[in-house]
Amino acid sequence: MCGIVSVLSLDEDCILDRILGAMERLEYRGYDSAGIACIDASAKLHRVRSVGRMAKLRDAVRTDQWSSINGGAWIGHTRWATHGQVAERNAHPHVCDGVAIAHNGIIENYQSLKNELISAGYEFESDTDSEVIAKLIAYYVKTRGLQFEEACRECMHVLQGTFAIVAISQNVPNTLIGMKLGSPMAICIDGQCRNFYIASDAIAMSSLSNSITYLLEGDFVVATRTQGGITYTITSSDGLEVERGVEPNKIQASCVGKNGYESFMLKEICEEAIVARRTYDTFDPRIIDISKFSKVSLIACGTSYYACLLAKYWIEALIKIPTDVEVASEFRYRNPVMVTSALYIFVSQSGETIDTLCAMRLVKERSCTTLAIVNVDGSSIAREADITIITPAGPEIGVASTKSFVSQIMMLLLMCVPKERVDIVQIETAINSVLADKHNMEEIARFIVGSRSVFYIGRGPSYPIALEGALKMKELSYMNAEGYPAGEIKHGPIALIDDEVCTVVIAPHDEYLDKTISNMQEIIARNGSVLLLASQDFREHMREISSHGATECLFLPTLHNVYNPFVFGVAVHLIAYNVAKSIGRDVDKPRNLAKSVTVE
Ligand code: F6R
Repeated sequence: MCGIVSVLSLDEDCILDRILGAMERLEYRGYDSAGIACIDASAKLHRVRSVGRMAKLRDAVRTDQWSSINGGAWIGHTRWATHGQVAERNAHPHVCDGVAIAHNGIIENYQSLKNELISAGYEFESDTDSEVIAKLIAYYVKTRGLQFEEACRECMHVLQGTFAIVAISQNVPNTLIGMKLGSPMAICIDGQCRNFYIASDAIAMSSLSNSITYLLEGDFVVATRTQGGITYTITSSDGLEVERGVEPNKIQASCVGKNGYESFMLKEICEEAIVARRTYDTFDPRIIDISKFSKVSLIACGTSYYACLLAKYWIEALIKIPTDVEVASEFRYRNPVMVTSALYIFVSQSGETIDTLCAMRLVKERSCTTLAIVNVDGSSIAREADITIITPAGPEIGVASTKSFVSQIMMLLLMCVPKERVDIVQIETAINSVLADKHNMEEIARFIVGSRSVFYIGRGPSYPIALEGALKMKELSYMNAEGYPAGEIKHGPIALIDDEVCTVVIAPHDEYLDKTISNMQEIIARNGSVLLLASQDFREHMREISSHGATECLFLPTLHNVYNPFVFGVAVHLIAYNVAKSIGRDVDKPRNLAKSVTVE
């Protein structure tokens, strides 16, 4: 949440373009406002901020002032608001007495620090927690006679919460500082030591350098520019100078384009068959044997949590090991009882979701085995787990998880069924046939648009798919949508059913089919409009079903029971996409969201 990129450069030109490009790649972390600050060759501080997407910031820097800045120290920030509404005064960088900072995370003790600074005569222009950082550094320089670097170190000791901070100062224009605690941060330097970068993640650095160094908790980095080149040091939380490993940056900018699709989301949905196949091909069953553990706990958030819910059905039915699934933000705060003979699986696309990361750290503290299933190699969860499996979905840029969900569930299925018994060709072919049904999906979208709200219901493994369908519908279209176990609907929610409410019934050909169809009948009997997602072989039975209310059907390939979530999952993704598109929503960047949720 919030993207940071900064550069200290010996180059004379193109820095503005480079930083804007990196910020655009970071926009998935937050896109409600953006800003840049720079200290130019004559030690003058410039700042520009704008509300809205990066395109607005690009417009704002199309001036002679910005195009004429050479070299210097730059920091850029894309914001996802935590404290303070979306407004230019709340956008980063924040500036005080020649110090400029950009921050990702939350400063938990900001109010007491702010009170202290107000007593010292400082006036605040924003409602953010972050502004105290710039003021505190400036305050330490002024009142304690500290150099900029020392003031930053002091500030880092005082701040509580989570942060990745970059800071520059007019007084020391040849210095760039980075501080990391709890929020991700990485650095890289080019081969000639002419450009040094600090950023939130590898995507920002792609196309800037082929290598990357991930900072660890408590790290403090100082980069210094001289005529001879740029040098840097990293100090760990115990005050010692340390070296951190340099790794290849596996993400290349070319992987993060739309490749001719009108949106990242559509491109990523269309990759779901390829991703299922790639996950199958790369899975190595020797990495983990679930059957050796007495119990399995799966912990995640959002769509990744739904992938875990699905896995519970598979693990219990196929491996017969007790399994529980929990939302990470609940797990980490409820004093869970843990057993060392259990396996704790953490699933995350970004690998940076703070609740999932902190839940995993809690499990590690109790000496239990942690397995991470993560899409971003090098992310915090990937690096800290005992065992890590990377889902090979490739960079997912659309804010809503789509192809990574398919990769997660394929990975989890392969942990439950011997690889040779999974019919990947059948799954791949079926997903492709759903993807090819473009025209039908547009029709289906028209059926849903205009509903007051949408229920998704399903039984067994179709219940997590119902939850996933509802989440995608609400986050992309902003329509009220809820997922329910089909058997639960009559325990309250059925009171909401009328002809303006659409219920999407997830009813593949499996052992739950008859019961789900009965629940559908109950809704039709109350004039609810129904969209039935069923297996192809149910088509002939449909004629026998009473259809008083508005009823629409989408028939999907008939598959072996276990594979149904793949095709029904792709279908609910496409339905949400088509509804959102038809009512003009921004499917790649829905309002109020960010892709990487690094705050609680
Ligand atoms: C929904 C969605 C979110 C994420 C959730 C967890 O489309 O994308 O619900 O699934 O924020 O994120 P990760 O998987 O990165 O931990």
